[in-house]
Order: sequence, then C-alpha cells, then structure tokens
Amino acid sequence: MAHQVSLMIVGAGVRGQLYADLAARDPRVRIVAVADRDEGRRTALAERHDVPPARRYSDWRDLAEQPRIADAAVIATLDRLHHEPALALAEQGYHLLLEKPMAVTPDLCHAIVAAARATHVTLAVCHVLRYTPYTQVLRRLLDSGVIGQIVSVQHLEPVGWWHQAHSFVRGNWRRTDESTFMLMAKSVHDIDWLNHLVGRPARRVSSFGGLHHFRTEQRPTGAGERCIDCAIEPDCPYSATRIYLGCLGNAAAERWPLQVVTSARTEQGVLDALRTGPYGRCVYRCDNDVVDHQVVNLEYEGGATASFTMTAFTDFAFRQTKIFGTHGCLEGNGREVEVLNFRTGKRERHLIEISQHDPHAGGDTGLVHAFIEALVSGRPEDHLTSPEESLTSHLVTWAAEEARLTSTVVHLS
Ligand SMILES: NC(=O)c1ccc[n+]([C@@H]2O[C@H](COP(=O)([O-])OP(=O)(O)OC[C@H]3O[C@@H](n4cnc5c(N)ncnc54)[C@H](O)[C@@H]3O)[C@@H](O)[C@H]2O)c1
Repeated sequence: MAHQVSLMIVGAGVRGQLYADLAARDPRVRIVAVADRDEGRRTALAERHDVPPARRYSDWRDLAEQPRIADAAVIATLDRLHHEPALALAEQGYHLLLEKPMAVTPDLCHAIVAAARATHVTLAVCHVLRYTPYTQVLRRLLDSGVIGQIVSVQHLEPVGWWHQAHSFVRGNWRRTDESTFMLMAKSVHDIDWLNHLVGRPARRVSSFGGLHHFRTEQRPTGAGERCIDCAIEPDCPYSATRIYLGCLGNAAAERWPLQVVTSARTEQGVLDALRTGPYGRCVYRCDNDVVDHQVVNLEYEGGATASFTMTAFTDFAFRQTKIFGTHGCLEGNGREVEVLNFRTGKRERHLIEISQHDPHAGGDTGLVHAFIEALVSGRPEDHLTSPEESLTSHLVTWAAEEARLTSTVVHLS
C-alpha cells in the first residue's frame, strides 16, 4: 500500500518513540524525520524507522527553518518545550499530534489553538484516556440511557507509590517551575475524561491538596542522601535500588521507567546511575514541590457533580470510577464495567479487551489510529477531540488549581 501519511517526530524520548512505533505499524504511515537533542535517542529512533541521515536533526528549529517535509509532526518534548514547536510548525502547515499539557500557560494554549485554526491544520492533543476501548464502552453505555441522566461521579486516579517517587519526586515533573503543577501534569487527562463522560460544561470548581509526605520533615531517622548508601533502605517503600533493580529482566519495565534512569541493562549499570543521577536520591531530600494528593470537586451545567481524587499512596493501577444516574449506576476500573439497572434490579458486566503492550490500556494505540484516520479522511471531527475541547479541559484544570491555591470556589464562564 502506498504511504499516505508522512510523520516527523519532535522529541524522541519515551513518548516520541512510542508514538513513532505505534504509527509505523500502520502501512499507510512513514516516519520521515526526527529531531532530538540527544544523539543516542535520535539515532535509535531514526535507525528503527529508516530515517535517512539528512533527516535527523538535533533541534526542531532546524526543521522549522526549511519548507515542510512531512504531513504531520508529533510534538513530544517536555512540557515547557511544547508551545514553541507547536506554533512554529503549525505556521509551516504541519498537522500536529501534541503532547499534553498543550502549553504551560492559558494564553499559550489559546495561541496554539488559534494558530491551528488560522492555518487549517489538524491539532490533536494527547488525551489518551479518551481513546481507550474502555472509554468507548462507557460512552456507549451512557449514550444508551441505561443509567438515565448522570447526577454524580466519583473518580480516583491512583498514581502509585513508586510512580509518584519516580516522576513527581525524583523525576521530570517534580517541580512546578520546571514543568507544571501536578494536576496539569498528571490529571488534565482526568478532567478531560470527566468532561467527556459528563458531556456538559463545568461551571464551578473547588479543590484541596498538598505535598504531605515527600518532604524533609518526613525523613526517617538514619536516612541517607542516596538509597545506595542508606542504612534504612531495605525498609523504605521508596527505595530506588529496589524499584529500579526490580525492572531488570522485565521488558516493559526496562522500557519504562528504567529507560528514563539509564540505558544500562545490568545491575552494575543501574547502581552506577543511582549513585550519581537524580533517580538515586532519597525521596525525603529532593527539590520537589508538586502535590502528592489532591481532591477536586466539579459542578457541571445542570447541576451534576463529580469528585476527583488524585493520590500517590496507592498501587500503580488504572483509574476507578463510579457514575450514578437517575435510572442506574455503574462502576468501572479500566478492565470491566458493572452496571446496575434500577428498572430491573439486575447487574450486567462488560469485560474490556486490552493490549498488554499498551501502557495506557489501548489509549496510545487508539489515539495514534484516530490521528491517522483523521489525516487520511480529512475529517478530524469524526475521529478526534476538537482543539477547543482540549483547551477547555486545560482551562478547567487551571481553575481547579486556582481554587486549591486560593481556597475559593472558582466559577467558569
Ligand atoms: N499523554 C500521556 O499520557 C503522557 C504520558 C507521559 C508523558 N507525557 C508528556 O509527554 C511529553 C514527553 O515526555 P517524555 O517522558 O517522552 O519526555 P522525554 O524526556 O523522554 O523526551 C523528551 C525529548 O525531547 C527532546 N528535546 C528537548 N529539546 C529538544 C529540541 N529543541 N528539539 C528536539 N528535541 C528536543 C529531549 O532530548 C528528549 O529526548 C511531556 O510533555 C509529558 O508530560 C504524556
């Protein structure tokens, strides 16, 4: 089959590699260019996808300076490095698959949506939860009317104890000033997902939360600077030695989270990275400031409400949700949905088939597929969340954070 969509990858890190690999499974797609500052990542992705040396760039800016060389760009740089390539590449006529957060201020998010509309390019924001088979089942059930009108929602995002330590205490998303606040970094997906399921605009929001545990005051007596030379490491749930040595030999865990820590795949290599790198630091002696727990209460137009909890202190598991309607209620955990029908008093279970290879329960695959279909068909509205909807989810997330920081109820227009 002839290639119909050419893609370039901006940022060949964890997400950029994943999207490239998923897209390349589709025979209609070719990866034609890659930009990354890191030579190893750039070369690895380029070689895997036969990108010629002349199309390997150390900075997306080199790409933006020349005439368009692909139909679309995947922007998978870190959070603060999204808006510049998004604006420049939209200007060049590239369709965009843009990682969340779209940008780190509301003005920049507005500017990206305006640029995409002005240049008539397709803009998809990577709210992968929307594209899971699970969400499709939920959507179908809600649309069928089986639970009537939604009145209340209870939604839990279990971040997972070691994931919090990895990404939000030791890692890339530990500081608001270097990336963004926790709710935006982690839970803009959830706010977006709730907006999608409730299907009405959010009108009021309140929020509480903070950084409870990963701070100096909580440091146990005897804790060292680094896990590798800490006397109490064997008893610490957040031991980097245990977390990362435990990844060795497990292909999925070697890809993530271990790849972020080191490219080594030996015990000695991992220990070396923990001896010197950021991921070997004691969780009570890091420079993190993002919250480890937060609740958000939302009221939607018409009066339905949702309560959302994000917390570090859980298993690393899929989100858990209860939706309460006028004619029934349902409960879902990513793998199955159980519906109680008030008319019959009967319960019905729906099992979801999910790929073991997709870290977001099929959402990454679903998103990439939808993006390609949108480009091939020229009808993004049939396949993708609109840029304006994604923007709204970001704005609600900012409102929730404002509510937390100011101890107020924030009204959304
Ligand atoms: N949608 C999701 O579910 C989801 C999940 C995890 C992360 N993310 C988001 O994806 C984004 C990427 O995360 P990641 O974990 O892949 O990060 P990463 O650090 O693994 O990759 C980012 C890459 O961008 C490269 N880069 C930096 N400056 C560049 C430049 N000027 N030109 C080209 N490349 C440049 C870096 O060298 C790095 O390889 C983040 O914004 C993150 O918040 C989204």
